[in-house]
Amino acid sequence: MSKKIGILTGGGDCPGLNAVIRGVVKSAIIQHGWEVIGIEDGFDGLLDLNKCRSLTLESVRGILPRGGTILGTTNRGNPFSYPVEQDGKLVPLDLSDRVVENVSMLGLDALIAVGGEGSLKIALELAKKGVPVVGVPKTIDNDLRGTDCTFGYNTALETATDALDKLHTTAESHHRVMILEVMGRYAGWIALESGIAGGADVILIPEIPFDLGHICASIKKRSDRGNRFSILVVAEGAFPSGGDRVVAKAADERYTIERLGGIGQYVAKQIEQCLEMDVRVTVLGHLQRGGSPTTFDRALGSRFGTKAVAMIAAGEFGQMACLRGRHIGTVSIEDATRDLNLVDPEGEIVRTAEDLGIMLGR
Ligand code: F6P
Repeated sequence: MSKKIGILTGGGDCPGLNAVIRGVVKSAIIQHGWEVIGIEDGFDGLLDLNKCRSLTLESVRGILPRGGTILGTTNRGNPFSYPVEQDGKLVPLDLSDRVVENVSMLGLDALIAVGGEGSLKIALELAKKGVPVVGVPKTIDNDLRGTDCTFGYNTALETATDALDKLHTTAESHHRVMILEVMGRYAGWIALESGIAGGADVILIPEIPFDLGHICASIKKRSDRGNRFSILVVAEGAFPSGGDRVVAKAADERYTIERLGGIGQYVAKQIEQCLEMDVRVTVLGHLQRGGSPTTFDRALGSRFGTKAVAMIAAGEFGQMACLRGRHIGTVSIEDATRDLNLVDPEGEIVRTAEDLGIMLGR
């Protein structure tokens, strides 16, 4: 039976989103002869039908190596708490009924939501209101449960590791302490794995509150041994024990989560006070979210996209495509979004880092 399916990309962009879109469009059209509707700017596109357009094989030609998302995205705009201007003030309103109506106005038999924990939680709430939803896990932070890995993470790791390689040579030449601040709001996966791959001396992650005295002592020990430089990787969400995360901008009516940033500078200041060494900070920021996806992310995105279509064909709604070992499977969106996939402070990867002599701030 012919179907009409919708796809949207929500939350922060991420390398590999276009591979998912292409996978969905190709398999829906080639395997099933279905029609695909692209919904622009995440769930916002379901509040405004002008933001919905047909996706054809031509629409997805040449997009595989491109970063970003051809559909656009937003990391605000939760339809269950949507900021609407009333008497000059932004008031959060529940517009989810309009989304449900628009899904039926469009005649969608299914909706594929590609997103991280925030977007998939919205998808789950829509599923509870009767929208036939299928999820695809996306985030560079790799903090989504229910899948061994999200797409986008591998590309972000490559970017961070490449930055560490570059910082190494300048750190060594100038005998400096170089700090690389990377993304990772709640989970330190990018910092931890790029730090191991890029030969960092200190890695600070949100899951292990750090002690500055211990960090300074470890850098001093290195320089006493004749290593005149040190490399630190710091996740944006890392914080000192007994202290708080460094917030660049507080949450407001539009942005429901605070913007992090500045922990690199904070650590640099403290190190300069306790050691007589030159310290420099590089904030990698959104470079980690951009660029051409790696082979791994292109393949994973394509597999997730085609799986999402197969899930619709099988009527597996309220489920998310996931990676388990080397195989693609499914998991309920409810289970995948129950809590976050955080680094285990006593787990194997942390132990590997410590066995390599990397200091984790404790
Ligand atoms: O969720 C991915 C993420 O990259 C976080 O690590 C980071 O805190 C956030 O997005 C930044 O988002 P924005 O695009 O609003 O700056």
